[in-house]
Amino acid sequence: MRILVAGGAGYIGSHTCLVLLEAGHEVIVADNLCNSKEESLRRVQQLTGKPILFYPVDVTEEAAVEKIFQEQHIDGVIHFAGLKAVGESVEQPVRYYYNNVVSTLTLCKVMKRHGVNKFVFSSSATVYGENAIPFVETMQLLPTTNPYGETKVMSERILTDVAAVEPDWSVALLRYFNPIGAHPSGRIGEDPQGIPNNLMPYVTQVASGKRERLRVWGNDYPTVDGTGVRDYIHVMDLAEGHVRALEKLCEEKGVLVYNLGTGHGVSVLQLVHAFEKANDLTIPYDICPRRAGDIAEFYADASKAERELGWKAARTIEDMCRDSWNWQRQNPQGYEV
Ligand code: NAD
Ligand code: UFG
Repeated sequence: MRILVAGGAGYIGSHTCLVLLEAGHEVIVADNLCNSKEESLRRVQQLTGKPILFYPVDVTEEAAVEKIFQEQHIDGVIHFAGLKAVGESVEQPVRYYYNNVVSTLTLCKVMKRHGVNKFVFSSSATVYGENAIPFVETMQLLPTTNPYGETKVMSERILTDVAAVEPDWSVALLRYFNPIGAHPSGRIGEDPQGIPNNLMPYVTQVASGKRERLRVWGNDYPTVDGTGVRDYIHVMDLAEGHVRALEKLCEEKGVLVYNLGTGHGVSVLQLVHAFEKANDLTIPYDICPRRAGDIAEFYADASKAERELGWKAARTIEDMCRDSWNWQRQNPQGYEV
């Protein structure tokens, strides 16, 4: 298939482009590079030996998206083009709602005009809010407490409503848990701008000496060791999940919702210790007060994706720790060479 990957230069997008190319699909990327570098795409092409057609466009701009669809035959769209910093979304709600919701609407509008009817959407476990664990796809969604989370709920709703009136459409809503890790080559990986918000990029920057100490946000949660528990998933497993979901959309119409997680919870300190062990390093840390808005513990019920897509996360927490460090070590300045 010929797939338009919106946001394909980013962290999850670049790994998904690689897996798509390796699976024999053709890839067209639309990305405005607001949180990424074109270098990621150059490296994906190097690793695969296959070309990517790149459009440096903002997918909220209808005329620019229209031009892509006029110039290229497209069989399906994967939409990664979102802003994703939870704290920033509280500070800049208009920017977040505009970017994340209008991008979904614009893609839908142009796809409809061109008769393209397969849509894979990057959603998030955040849509479950503070639900009972494990999170199951059938749960009623609870409020998310921040604009970022609401943009995911809204985009899911928009796509569900579109699919309800377009009998030929098939939509996959993929709810990611916590992606970490990198391609085992260490050539592509997560390249956060500024001080990382997320745990693993912070840990790797402490390991490299770029940051002094990790701050562990709270050790008084009702969890195994008091620190927050998450379902960390290797980005390569996640990328493979997208390709399986896309293939499923060729067989089935309507809306398909899948958790993409491992089904296992890992605490902050467990992750830190796994990282130390996998890489034979020490990560100095301080226990600090809880971070506002954090949930104590969540992980996926990952059985639906296994049952229906034949997909199951295969890589271990050690793989994730080793590959994250391998990327950081080889690219201390990210894609800035
Ligand atoms: P990322 O920032 O690395 O990738 C997003 C890409 O989209 C970037 O290359 C950015 O430049 C591009 N982009 C953003 N807005 C755009 C626009 N209007 N037009 C064109 N390009 C645009 O983030 P990521 O971690 O790869 O996340 C990809 C998607 O997955 C996002 O929608 C994010 O919300 C979602 N998600 C991420 C996580 C996570 O922890 N990384 C968890 C759940 C969901
Ligand atoms: N943490 C620390 N210190 C840090 C960073 C994080 O102790 O410097 C802790 C957090 O308190 C939490 C755990 O590590 O317990 C994971 O935190 P992340 O920021 O890495 O991830 P979150 O689960 O908070 O959020 C991520 C994404 C969201 C997404 C959510 C669910 O950032 O966009 O997963 O998919 F919505």
